[in-house]
Amino acid sequence: MAKIGIFDSGIGGLSVLHEALAKMPDSEFVFYADRTHAPYGEKSEDMILGYASGITRFLTQLGCGTVLIACNTATSVAAGTLRKEYPEIPILGMEPAVKPALEETDGRVMVIATPVTVRENKLKDLLARVDKDNRVDVIAMPLLVRLAEKELFDGKEAEDSIEELASAMRDRGGYTALVLGCTHFNYFRKGLKAALGDSVTLFDGNSGTVRHLSSVTGERYDASGRFSQEDPSGKTRVSYYDSGTLLEKGEELSLYSRLHARLEEIC
Ligand code: DGL
Repeated sequence: MAKIGIFDSGIGGLSVLHEALAKMPDSEFVFYADRTHAPYGEKSEDMILGYASGITRFLTQLGCGTVLIACNTATSVAAGTLRKEYPEIPILGMEPAVKPALEETDGRVMVIATPVTVRENKLKDLLARVDKDNRVDVIAMPLLVRLAEKELFDGKEAEDSIEELASAMRDRGGYTALVLGCTHFNYFRKGLKAALGDSVTLFDGNSGTVRHLSSVTGERYDASGRFSQEDPSGKTRVSYYDSGTLLEKGEELSLYSRLHARLEEIC
């Protein structure tokens, strides 16, 4: 079976890989974090397209038969072009879970995303299609991406930034859903839940994306699967690259071990 390449500007995409390692027990993955160039959400469209195209080439050269863009920002900018550049392989992207949020709750829906995702047409087109009653608002939160890349998930800066969002939502009132429109935001679930309370449900695109990935690749999906990086013989099913460099030593991989542990705890 061909490997599946998953990439993001940084650690956000690891939350999608985490879900894939749990629900697709037979699959092998290459995870590519372009941490040298993160954050994408504050870069120009041309730069993001250049990075995404180079990474897709790299992943196909490693033998990946499917590429998942585990980044809403890069999906907004590059998915269409990449599909034309690589017609021979399926290229999947992320979509903010606005539709499920509108269907499963009945109040206002707040979408948080990067500045690029907010200004790109992809999100605007999605809202024009699904937000018929104008229930959705959108806010860019670039600081959370920067904090995530430094593993500052629970400190004062994150708390202040989340409190600013919560207070804007309280002022307007009536919110029943928060859509995490950037894969990095999954790491802040604990703080977001604490600030927003039980009346606001959090939505992300990860589980829908992984279900879609399994149906496109035809690889086994186990809804009750548990996170594991190994196959039954104990061999690892994933290799990690930081901007083109393979991470091999224990200490190089320790960031990813910590992040998987955090995702196990909070997702
Ligand atoms: N994780 C990304 C996303 O889902 C990009 C964050 C960034 O690099 O700005 O949008």
